[in-house]
Amino acid sequence: MSKQFDVIVIGGGPGGYIAAIRAAQLGFNVACIDEWKNAKGGPALGGTCTNVGCIPSKALLQSSEHYEHAGHGFADHGIKVEGLSLDIGKMLARKDQVVKQNNDGITYLFKKNKIASFHGRGSFVKAGDAGYEIKVAGATEETISGKQIIIATGSNARALPGTAFDEENILSNDGALRIGAVPKKLALIGSGVIGLEMGSVWRRLGAEVTVLEALPTFLGGVDEQIAKEAKKAFDKQGLKIELGVKVGEIKSGKKGVSIAWTNAKGEAQTLDVDKLIVSIGRVPNTIGLNAEAVGLKLDERGAITVDDDCKTNLPGVWAIGDVVRGPMLAHKAEEEGVAVAERIAGQHGHVNFNTVPWVIYTHPEIAWVGQTEQQLKAAGRAYKAGTFPFLANGRARALGDTTGMVKFLADATTDEILGVHMVGPQVSELISEAVVAMEFKASSEDIARICHAHPSLSEATKEAALAVDKRTLNF
Ligand code: FAD
Ligand code: NAI
Repeated sequence: MSKQFDVIVIGGGPGGYIAAIRAAQLGFNVACIDEWKNAKGGPALGGTCTNVGCIPSKALLQSSEHYEHAGHGFADHGIKVEGLSLDIGKMLARKDQVVKQNNDGITYLFKKNKIASFHGRGSFVKAGDAGYEIKVAGATEETISGKQIIIATGSNARALPGTAFDEENILSNDGALRIGAVPKKLALIGSGVIGLEMGSVWRRLGAEVTVLEALPTFLGGVDEQIAKEAKKAFDKQGLKIELGVKVGEIKSGKKGVSIAWTNAKGEAQTLDVDKLIVSIGRVPNTIGLNAEAVGLKLDERGAITVDDDCKTNLPGVWAIGDVVRGPMLAHKAEEEGVAVAERIAGQHGHVNFNTVPWVIYTHPEIAWVGQTEQQLKAAGRAYKAGTFPFLANGRARALGDTTGMVKFLADATTDEILGVHMVGPQVSELISEAVVAMEFKASSEDIARICHAHPSLSEATKEAALAVDKRTLNF
């Protein structure tokens, strides 16, 4: 007889591993199946986020920022750096070590929570009286059964039609994180989150970077004022971003990659580069799940169809994270994982999609929560806006990092905060205050009345809240 579990989680990324931990905390007998392989073919828990996403990209963003500061930023502080050089091998090895620490951390957490960890591909065999039979195909093959199944199989990079990733010249996020020598010329297709983060890494390390974006507007989903400010900063840094382009034929050979493209004016162009990163979004991953065997419903995008509670069309089968609707973010996947485990336990797990923060870890950083000014206008909602520039913040001046601003949008009548948008230093951390405020349905006046430490960047948040009522103190 196959091993029986109360809950089987398929996928060990941030959605799956967190769901497994929460389910174990709630007293269930839990298994988690994950197929990711490390360089030696062993398990590497943590999914896209840990292995080729959030964690390694932030490690390289940090290293490359240090390099840029040493080369260009320290002089202003009276620090001379001579003979600066780059050991890209060591930088990549450090990044791999950071990834491994996170893989090991999750393995430890699984042991601590007595979660049975299976390394291999999980696929549906059939539904039966004891729940669902799931085949695990790894070094060996076995079948396990579970009453409740949580699918957290994540997403894969979208390829350009007719241009497959070879991870040598034409790179997905995977190859983009392990280029062995700084390319002289690098192109990225898509100026979304990956395009900007990975473009920044390789530009800081010395590559001449061009980003080709199909849409005529830069960061269309971001508040326009914030996106404009960010674009100004990227232009100044020398990150070449071409908007409104149409990418044509791509040829890859020994000498690199040649990209035919048409610019916004309709003029034909050719870009010859050493490497090309394609970052045009991601597709939900249900490869190998054998969804057909049990009649699991997918939508037209290939995502698993779920309701607001992450329930699929099958009883006892749930799906979370990148493989379902909603933003493809690790923290969104985690929140869904916790909520589903709690729902299985008969509790009232809840995810508030209106307060999921977004962060782009460039320099300046970009972060936001809630609605943009464009969205409020389109919805005909009466609002008040308040902004405060980091240029007028003492801590930002001391840091030598005064680009950007904080912007509040609040209801014109009730003053409830509807959105907070930031571009500037360390806004990835500052955005949390806005998330908390919105969760508690705070007004901009609530933030304006709270004592913020001086000198701190968070004073810009307070001042932007004051600006909603046109009473900034330092600007
Ligand atoms: P995944 O992390 O994709 O995990 C799915 C796991 O399931 C994988 O290990 C996969 O191997 C496994 N799997 C799939 N099918 C099977 C099967 N049949 N059997 C067994 N195992 C299977 N998000 C942020 O919030 N912040 C960031 O800074 C950030 N940076 C990113 C940077 C990059 C370069 C990329 C690519 C993404 C980034 N993301 C970031 C997005 C984030 O990585 C995803 O939103 C997140 O990983 C989704 O989690 P998940 O658990 O749904 O899926
Ligand atoms: P994205 O959706 O952020 O951006 C894709 C961009 O490519 C868009 O601007 C789109 O208009 C453009 N595009 C699409 N097709 C194109 C074409 N044929 N030619 C030119 N441009 C084209 O997707 P990206 O950057 O691949 O990232 C995927 C997801 O991963 C993100 O949406 C996000 O959910 C997640 N992520 C999150 C990060 C974070 O939270 N800091 C970091 C990196 C990724």
